[in-house]
Amino acid sequence: METMRAIMLTGFGGYDKIKVQQIPKPKPEKDHVVIEIKACGMNFADLYVRQGIYTYKGVKPPFCMGVEGAGVISEVGENVTEFKMGDRVLCWNFTYGMCAEFVSVHKNQCYSIPENMTYMDANCLITNYVTAYLVVMDFGNLRPGQSILIQAAAGGVGWAATQIAKSIENVQIFGTASSGKHDVIKENGVNHAIDYRTCDFMSEVLRISPSGVHVVLDCLSGNDFIKAQRCLRHMGRIVHVGISSMINGEKRNPLKNFKVWWQTKNISIYNLIQKNNAVCGLSINTIFEEDPECFRTVLDKLMVLYNDNVIKPRIDSVWSFDEVIEATKCMVERKNIGKIVLVPNKEEAYNKVEASFQN
Ligand SMILES: NC(=O)c1ccc[n+]([C@@H]2O[C@H](COP(=O)([O-])OP(=O)(O)OC[C@H]3O[C@@H](n4cnc5c(N)ncnc54)[C@H](OP(=O)(O)O)[C@@H]3O)[C@@H](O)[C@H]2O)c1
Repeated sequence: METMRAIMLTGFGGYDKIKVQQIPKPKPEKDHVVIEIKACGMNFADLYVRQGIYTYKGVKPPFCMGVEGAGVISEVGENVTEFKMGDRVLCWNFTYGMCAEFVSVHKNQCYSIPENMTYMDANCLITNYVTAYLVVMDFGNLRPGQSILIQAAAGGVGWAATQIAKSIENVQIFGTASSGKHDVIKENGVNHAIDYRTCDFMSEVLRISPSGVHVVLDCLSGNDFIKAQRCLRHMGRIVHVGISSMINGEKRNPLKNFKVWWQTKNISIYNLIQKNNAVCGLSINTIFEEDPECFRTVLDKLMVLYNDNVIKPRIDSVWSFDEVIEATKCMVERKNIGKIVLVPNKEEAYNKVEASFQN
């Protein structure tokens, strides 16, 4: 049996639960394609997954990690007419398995990428840009002359949301990030960079804009969600996408997790009515499952924005599969600006900010 290397989660817990192992190389089922992976993404959700805070559909280890990748089709199933060997594609699977040398996905979980798009960039579109687009344009409905607060503006989703918000005329963008990242997020379009680690972001937003902001992208949850809600002006919309506050180091902290959950479990309907506010929750996993057409339409729109140079992913760093634990620490320790990328082969690995990657 032919085997290949994959990043496996061998159990819930600390960094030692992540291992690079040999597993069987996939064969394409009738409606599937096999893709030779050139780049696959690390996401914040990988931290929840490893710690056992959340897995999509309750998937349990051992399993191959990763929900998105980009590469070249190496085999096609007998019912597949939409793709052929050699096609350059991005691909996803929300029940994991993308951090491997080869992956097999249903043809509906695959999307052709243009010649001018690198595998690194393609690999950022699903979790970062589809999420950001839906938050800013759909749920958030950010319109010309309005304002948005983007939490973790230097992260993968935050970077994407800033560019999408900036594409709307005369929008004021508030972004939180560690202070060392402020110059870069301002270059990306943030007008008001806030160091949430040394000052109270709510007071700062309300100091600059006493009536509040029209839209909030909240990926932190817990007390930060409550404060972010207070930053909303009348008819404001807060879109809740993540629980980053639950991560507090390498291992799961049940007390912290409970606190974050407790702080958000009661949303006051009375306050929502009195302040004319909307609270939304968004998961691209379930959007893909419930409404794949919507998901694909967003990808079509993103391709246009990419070709028009409106969006451009920022690759923070590139790590080989063997360096996956160092890559994970980079995210846990809040060092990344933009996307952390994993590549199967050590010799292909870079660790250079703003590298210009060739395919
Ligand atoms: N609902 C969905 O469908 C969906 C899809 C994709 C992502 N998400 C969510 O969106 C958020 C961003 O995801 P991402 O993959 O782009 O990650 P990311 O923002 O690149 O995550 C890393 C950054 O988050 C910031 N951060 C804030 N609190 C943190 C904490 N407690 N521990 C570590 N870092 C913290 C750090 O930057 P600073 O400290 O400098 O801010 C860090 O560099 C996550 O909450 C994720 O779950 C949701």
